[in-house]
Amino acid sequence: MTDAISYQAIQGKKATASSIVMWKLIKEDVNCVFDRDPASRNSLEILTTYPGVHAILAHRINHWLWNKGLKWLARFLSNVSRWLTAIDIHPGATIGRRFFIDHGLGVVIGETTEIGDDVTLYQGVTLGGRKMKPGKRHPTLGDNVIVGAGAKILGPFRVGSNCRIGSNAVVLNEVPDGATVVGIPGKIVACQDPSDADCKRRFEADREAFDSYAVDAPTEAHKDEVEQLRHELAQLQARLSEFEKVVTKHDAAFSAGESGKASLKTGS
Ligand SMILES: CC(C)(COP(=O)(O)OP(=O)(O)OC[C@H]1O[C@@H](n2cnc3c(N)ncnc32)[C@H](O)[C@@H]1OP(=O)(O)O)[C@@H](O)C(=O)NCCC(=O)NCCS
Repeated sequence: MTDAISYQAIQGKKATASSIVMWKLIKEDVNCVFDRDPASRNSLEILTTYPGVHAILAHRINHWLWNKGLKWLARFLSNVSRWLTAIDIHPGATIGRRFFIDHGLGVVIGETTEIGDDVTLYQGVTLGGRKMKPGKRHPTLGDNVIVGAGAKILGPFRVGSNCRIGSNAVVLNEVPDGATVVGIPGKIVACQDPSDADCKRRFEADREAFDSYAVDAPTEAHKDEVEQLRHELAQLQARLSEFEKVVTKHDAAFSAGESGKASLKTGS
């Protein structure tokens, strides 16, 4: 997580001593785009055409103002940034180094969100709250997390480092390090390190709980019904094979009768 700013700062306590000066943060925010967007070509292009970069640059300043107690100014400038970029970052949000929002349109980051280093968000991501209660109500993202387009992470829980959140997932619970989460509500579909006990346990639990195609697990009543149907099917099969025996017998008798008539006619 960033050593520049801490969640304590939001709480009005003294901000963690910062060894990283603003310009260095900004330079890193621009340079990291080269690694994460294959379409990027040069710094001028990134500085002039990436709304995600504009939004984080504005946020670095707004967050500094927020921590200095200039709360109205911070919120006003963050609103101006939102008008220009369509990205809404509350100035209280704590964001780590080398943060990148690709495309950006419709991203919302709530006040008590904490984001680690090297995190990437795509358009339409919401890092939001579910309760009106003041205090920590938005998620904490570890380092190196990727959040796919349109995903919503809602609540004051942690999404571990190296996690990948699938596009359009809705994540409502803590996610262990290295997990890949997809769907609504978000379920773990893979663990980066298969020997990670925590991730594996959650993966197994989610797989167990997953009701494919929204079909519930069979109840006792369903099981009884299936048993009854099996019983009826066995009875029908027994009757059918009796019927087949009778038909075969009649068939043989009829064939014998027909051949008798034919020999009489030919006199053989
Ligand atoms: C979640 C994600 C990171 C997984 O990628 P991956 O590790 O390569 O995983 P896979 O593609 O092998 O998918 C694993 C399983 O999850 C499913 N899955 C993948 N992404 C999903 C999603 N967003 N929603 C629902 N299910 C998804 C796959 O169908 C697959 O299921 P299966 O095992 O039953 O076949 C990726 O699919 C994703 O959503 N990335 C975000 C990309 C994005 O937002 N791009 C925007 C660019 S503008």
